[in-house]
Amino acid sequence: MAEKSRIGVTGLAVMGANLARNIASRGVPIAVHNRTTAKTTQFIEDYGHEGAFTGAESTADFVAALEKPRRIIVMVKAGKPVDGVIEELTPLLDEGDIIIDAGNSHFPDTVRRTAECAANGIRFMGVGVSGGEEGALLGPSIMPGGDPEAYEEVREIFESIAAVVDGTPCVVHVGPGGAGHYVKMVHNGIEYADIQLIAEAYDLLTHVAGLDAPAIGKIFEEWNSGDLESFLIEITGKVLAKTDEKTGRPLVDVIVDQAGQKGTGTWTAIDALGLGIPLTGITEAVFARGLSALRDERKKASTTLAGPQPAGKADRTDLVEDIRQALYASKVVAYAQGFAQMRAASIENGWDLDLGAMATIWRGGCIIRAQFLNRIRDAYAEHPDLDNLLMVPYFTEAVATAQDAWRRVVVTATEQGVAIPAFSSSLSYYDGYRTERGPANLIQGLRDFFGAHTYKRTDEEGSFHTRWAQDGTEVKTD
Ligand code: 6PG
Repeated sequence: MAEKSRIGVTGLAVMGANLARNIASRGVPIAVHNRTTAKTTQFIEDYGHEGAFTGAESTADFVAALEKPRRIIVMVKAGKPVDGVIEELTPLLDEGDIIIDAGNSHFPDTVRRTAECAANGIRFMGVGVSGGEEGALLGPSIMPGGDPEAYEEVREIFESIAAVVDGTPCVVHVGPGGAGHYVKMVHNGIEYADIQLIAEAYDLLTHVAGLDAPAIGKIFEEWNSGDLESFLIEITGKVLAKTDEKTGRPLVDVIVDQAGQKGTGTWTAIDALGLGIPLTGITEAVFARGLSALRDERKKASTTLAGPQPAGKADRTDLVEDIRQALYASKVVAYAQGFAQMRAASIENGWDLDLGAMATIWRGGCIIRAQFLNRIRDAYAEHPDLDNLLMVPYFTEAVATAQDAWRRVVVTATEQGVAIPAFSSSLSYYDGYRTERGPANLIQGLRDFFGAHTYKRTDEEGSFHTRWAQDGTEVKTD
């Protein structure tokens, strides 16, 4: 009888295929399967020589090819397809087998599937995998959630395939239930904010500094050797430097300005609203994609709605450095918000997330990988219960140093009519967060006026209501 495979991957689109190849490249015998058999056959034809693959035509053959407890990675489109695969696998599995959903599933689905699988004696893990096609093949960042004992069954394989930074693999058991997919969701939300901030910087460099794409590409290349060093800044330089083969123009100049999205950013924003966490950077990034999609409306509005008078030429040298600083400060805010959200979710769900460990596994392999994450890891190492990253000396100082430039950029952009929702909302969040007494006293007064919603006083315990429409006296309500 042929040697059983230690693990299986079902779903051989590019992410599943690359993950399977990565696993096989570590000498792990692996079974592969796809709903359409032709894809499995093609996979074996293309990559069969790379490792100990067993190509399975049917789900039954796939399950039979695996050693027990069976470890099955499901890499199909998030949503119904995942439930379909689980349904098909369940009758073929035994008590204690493990189904690993490595797609971008919404965490409440993961919570539900964990319970449904548990009812059938199956251990379900929701695992975030980041790094795109290349990461999946060469070393992703992996965010496994679910039963810690089930994780132990796959830990060795996961540690062997993950990206490695300073000798540490970018994988750690995140927490129970939906925790892994939750953290991946926030990772993607932060990815949205990072990308939006980069896009705003590009817009300013184009329309205020008057630079062309290749020149801006060079600026990003330079920025990548400083505080901003990260995968996204690096590839921005490359994308901006690319010439379109058909027209000879910069490729970005012929790409339609409508951003796509698959939902993870929206989920992050909705979740933050539910938790009551101000998540302005990520949420504005989602809205900005929504606005970008309204291309026809924007076309009409561009000739109807007034903008400011064209401004004179800005001093480029100062402006470029100001934009760099504004980008960095806004990025700090976006991460501070994303980490505050994970903290709140951890408390809400009893996940006990180790936020320093999240920063550690995001240092390599994933889309938001960056030098900067070392600072976040250090911050949580020193202050595990940190409320907000802005309060750690390194970040407090970084933002203090950048704030003048940040303010100038927001003013200039606003004066010149360039939309900078992420830059400006991050600055407003910063100003709001550092304000001891904000204007919510008036909000409370208004709420009490129209709805008797009560308010608290600064000088006395309890809740109060003023009888605005009657005699104007104040009553204590508890
Ligand atoms: C990753 C990416 C990956 C994917 C996003 C893109 O971590 O590898 O985040 O998950 O590229 O889903 O999301 P949008 O299509 O919504 O931009």
